[in-house]
Amino acid sequence: MADLTVFLNGEYLPLAEAKISVMDRGFLFGDGVYEVIPVYAGRIFRIEEHLRRLNNSLTDIRLDNPYTPQEWQAIFQPLLVSDKDQSLYLQITRGIAEKRDHAFPEKVTPTVLVMCTEVKPFEGKFTGIKAVTLDDTRWDLCHIKAITLLANILLRQEAIDEGCAEAILIKQGYVTEGAASNVFAVIDGVLMTPLNNGAILAGITRDVILELAAQNNIPFSEQVIALEALQQATEIWVTSSTREIVPVVELDGLKVGDGKPGPLFRRMDTLLQAEKQAA
Ligand code: PDD
Repeated sequence: MADLTVFLNGEYLPLAEAKISVMDRGFLFGDGVYEVIPVYAGRIFRIEEHLRRLNNSLTDIRLDNPYTPQEWQAIFQPLLVSDKDQSLYLQITRGIAEKRDHAFPEKVTPTVLVMCTEVKPFEGKFTGIKAVTLDDTRWDLCHIKAITLLANILLRQEAIDEGCAEAILIKQGYVTEGAASNVFAVIDGVLMTPLNNGAILAGITRDVILELAAQNNIPFSEQVIALEALQQATEIWVTSSTREIVPVVELDGLKVGDGKPGPLFRRMDTLLQAEKQAA
């Protein structure tokens, strides 16, 4: 990390020299949005979809996108290396205000940060992970990829404290998503995932999986999933750009299926790896 170069407000700087004001609204209020974009051997995966989601997040928090898609591409390029898999982290805050006030400041320039770090395959992918169900204590605007992540952080930490790698969140008896992932379950032979209805982040990995299911005649459905149905699932997965597809082999201390990564996980992971290669 020490020799990492980052992009901050128009400049490429060593990480140690990248500084922002304590008056930045991202720091004071968590007033900003972000994206995490996977890069495979120098090729940015699903860039259009990620930039579209960024645009949606910015619109929802009433900030203008400071760059066009072409400009974003140009900003990313110097941070990429061709011999590694990486993760691009992009964050935009409302910028630096003169005083701390909840209301939007007038005429501020957004703060823009882009960093790119190396990623290795997530170990839990091969063995499966344990997950715990927790009450979804987050706000109603979970479709916005906001940097305001305190609820997600507390939920993920609670899962870790219970010896699990992820929290699966339940709102009024129904599954929403993971603390930092979307959720899939195989129930009665159908690959199911909760509806994209504002209570979840519209995961790009989720979309890729649904696309691959459709292309490969895998029965799937976007629908409400009650906690009781999740408990009957033969497979459960959590998905994200950094972890791809991770099988959950134990939920709330009970085995999922036979307690090993399931056959549909293996098939979908193979399809996803091929999709990455082809992109
Ligand atoms: N998070 N839901 C939540 C709450 C998330 O934080 C994420 C990813 C996802 C999956 O989205 P995608 O497939 O587009 O990565 C769903 C990122 C990786 C993070 O916060 O680091």
